Amino acid sequence: MLMDLELLQLIFQRIINEIDIGLHIVDENGTSVVYNNKMKQIEGMDVEDVLGKNLLDVFTFAEHDSTLLQALQYGKTIKNVKQTYFNNKGQEITTVNHTFPILKNGNIKGAIEIAKDVTKLERLIRDNMNKTENAKYTFDSLIGDSPAFREVCEHAKRATRTSSSILIVGDTGTGKELFAQSIHNGSQRSTGPFVSQNCAALPESLVEGLLFGTTKGAFTGAVDRPGLFEQANGGTLLLDEINSLDLNLQAKLLRAIQEKTIRRIGASKDTPIDVRIIATMNEDPVDAISAQRLRKDLYYRLSVVTLFIPPLKDRKEDILPLALHFIDKYNALFQMEVKGMEDEVSEFLLSYDWPGNVRELEHLIEGALNMMSYEETIDLTHLPFQYRTKSQTKDRLQKHYGYEFFATLPSGSAPPLKEQIENAEKYFIQKTIKKCDNNISKAAKTLGISRQSLQYRLKKWGIRPDQER
Ligand SMILES: Nc1ncnc2c1ncn2[C@@H]1O[C@H](COP(=O)(O)OP(=O)(O)OP(=O)(O)O)[C@@H](O)[C@H]1O
Ligand SMILES: [Mg+2]
Repeated sequence: MLMDLELLQLIFQRIINEIDIGLHIVDENGTSVVYNNKMKQIEGMDVEDVLGKNLLDVFTFAEHDSTLLQALQYGKTIKNVKQTYFNNKGQEITTVNHTFPILKNGNIKGAIEIAKDVTKLERLIRDNMNKTENAKYTFDSLIGDSPAFREVCEHAKRATRTSSSILIVGDTGTGKELFAQSIHNGSQRSTGPFVSQNCAALPESLVEGLLFGTTKGAFTGAVDRPGLFEQANGGTLLLDEINSLDLNLQAKLLRAIQEKTIRRIGASKDTPIDVRIIATMNEDPVDAISAQRLRKDLYYRLSVVTLFIPPLKDRKEDILPLALHFIDKYNALFQMEVKGMEDEVSEFLLSYDWPGNVRELEHLIEGALNMMSYEETIDLTHLPFQYRTKSQTKDRLQKHYGYEFFATLPSGSAPPLKEQIENAEKYFIQKTIKKCDNNISKAAKTLGISRQSLQYRLKKWGIRPDQER
């Protein structure tokens, strides 16, 4: 019998770590008892940093941001919450979460969060929406005045005069699609179609037919249908993430570009085409070639013009103009009148490394405006919760509180990191409460955490607000 239980436990353990659904379970005190591999991948946290720890120690969020806390405290079941964010590897991730309490005899014994990763699906929808939208961006809509950005714009503008293939290389969210559209709109092809396709979002078996078209009877269910090359005839075809395309298809693509003809699957003759190809990728072409994700011959053909768009962290001058541009954009969309941001927010934007680049910055501004009601400027408390902790940088804390705290550590005999962090946390909480005249709500707001989270910390550190030093 005991054996069976053990076996059962092993089976559950295995399932929990193998399933493609993120799982996070806390007990009645808010301590994490299950945190599976998929959740780790989604949230970009290490299992050791979460398991056995209290939620409030690991994540800093406002009370209403944590569905797990709400389930635990109020027994609330929250279903279908869609969240989009960037993990610490800069990957944009979209999940749909369900959270519910674990009830025993009517008492809350814990809470479970289930997260379904719908990133691919989102991507597919977004890319296909883009496709029907056509090319709306022009060089005038590109924001950025840094020397590096201006140089890419210059190169791109020059490329509008010809029909040579273009390769755009840049990390996710740097603006590759925008450049492709601007080049199309700035060229003689602007009256022709602009067709874009993400090569990574679709199953391989579909891509060939999609690119080159099919003829009736080529295979079961095949119909006469033009491919994207034919649809883009006279215009521009943007092929996103070319390095995800199967190598055989890369060879066929090369042939189409060289010979300026394509052959639909199942057809007996070639069709001439006049299409400009713009390909994009988010890794260094040299790496992609050596890892055999990109054919060398295709690379040479595509890279007649190569545009490298630098990541946002390498063109910091562009950050604030872009932020203001997005404030304008969302003011118009949400009918708000936000004028700008506090210096602290600007400082944070300039110090952050933007793994998701311009798209991440746009999400941040959109998120901040969602948090505001009648305020005219964005302050740190308006930032989406995952940024609030990051914005509490050492520099900022030192600026606020002076260097004395860090200086009090005896040199050469640094206590363990955990202890230092605990001391720092205690210290800043005490200081802030004092600064806020023992007003807990105000102190919590200043610290960028919920009142409830602050109270938990006061209890944990045995701090009594009326006994401030
Ligand atoms: N220079 C810029 N000026 C204004 N908006 C920008 C700029 N660069 C990027 N954006 C905005 O950032 C978002 C992402 O841009 P885009 O879709 O072109 O990125 P991408 O490089 O194609 O990313 P991915 O590799 O993930 O497909 C868009 O919403 C776009 O409007
Ligand atoms: Mg893109």
